[in-house]
Amino acid sequence: MSGTRYGRTLLGIWSVLMAILCLNEITMDRSLVSAVAYYSEKPAFLPSCRIYEPGFTKCSTNTIQKLLDQLNIGIPEVLERFGPFDPMRVMDIVFKQDNNEVATIRANLTELVVKGFANTKVKESRVSKKDFGWQTKIFLPKMRLDGKYEMAGRILLIPLSGSGKIFIEIDDLDILLLSKIRLYEKGGFTFDNVTSVRVQLNLTKVRTYLDNLFNGRSKEVERSTNQFFNENWRDFYEALKPLIVETVENILYDVMSTVFHLIPANFFIEDIPTPEQLYGSKEALGKKNS
Ligand SMILES: *[C@@H]1O[C@H](CO)[C@@H](O)[C@H](O)[C@H]1NC(C)=O
Ligand SMILES: *[C@@H]1O[C@H](CO)[C@@H](O)[C@H](O)[C@H]1NC(C)=O
Ligand SMILES: *[C@@H]1O[C@H](CO)[C@@H](O)[C@H](O)[C@H]1NC(C)=O
Repeated sequence: MSGTRYGRTLLGIWSVLMAILCLNEITMDRSLVSAVAYYSEKPAFLPSCRIYEPGFTKCSTNTIQKLLDQLNIGIPEVLERFGPFDPMRVMDIVFKQDNNEVATIRANLTELVVKGFANTKVKESRVSKKDFGWQTKIFLPKMRLDGKYEMAGRILLIPLSGSGKIFIEIDDLDILLLSKIRLYEKGGFTFDNVTSVRVQLNLTKVRTYLDNLFNGRSKEVERSTNQFFNENWRDFYEALKPLIVETVENILYDVMSTVFHLIPANFFIEDIPTPEQLYGSKEALGKKNS
């Protein structure tokens, strides 16, 4: 098999694997916490800021860091929904692609655990005075996914079956998080309704290894296949970036929605306007009556 052909095959395998990882998010329960429960008293871990006073961005950066630190310690209502943050248990994934010329493959990923969120560093947290959307820069020195995989099938004409351990490790992950919100009123407090989350990602390196890739029949091919993944990680990463970005966006959307429906925006920004003040009384009145 020529080098290019081999490369393309491996790219195909990699794509399928990444698609498997991303499927997790697609099947994730997107329904938000509908319970009426919310914090009516400011939690002690959260320092408030005032947006119309100088030094807001510095204050807000510290507040969001404190929020993330607390997520790691455990906020009961969030724990209930997501489990611990670090290491984070991720749902099992079953992937099936049948009767396709390119690939016929079934794969399972189980016992998935993501490590690294405990070391999340908030570099900057800005809030727009116009629409109160958030622009947040966060940094993860290392993120690692560990799990077990089981795979059977073929890609192009290459039979591919194996089962064993898999890991994916990402270094120096910079995330720029842009979230749009819509203010709403609940129990006399102003809350953020997260309406959209967009992320931009930069990273310095991705490493991966699939153990026992050809059921141990050829350690040599297993080694060279994994080596190929790692030597060409940037090409693979670029090709799959949209999927990775979507995955990260979905996770962050779920986490932020949960947190912001739970904790009033007043506890983050003391002098945040009411929806009435921001959007005008007519619309707010209309919402109240509906
Ligand atoms: C994946 O798991 C299902 C049920 O858990 C099983 O029936 C199937 O054979 C597994 N597929 C592979 C490729 O291991
Ligand atoms: C990623 O790197 C580019 C180029 O250095 C930079 O312009 C962009 O702001 C960075 N994005 C993040 C999320 O760090
Ligand atoms: C939040 O916004 C969505 C639309 O993006 C809307 O369906 C939902 O009712 C809003 N929730 C609240 C509590 O305002």
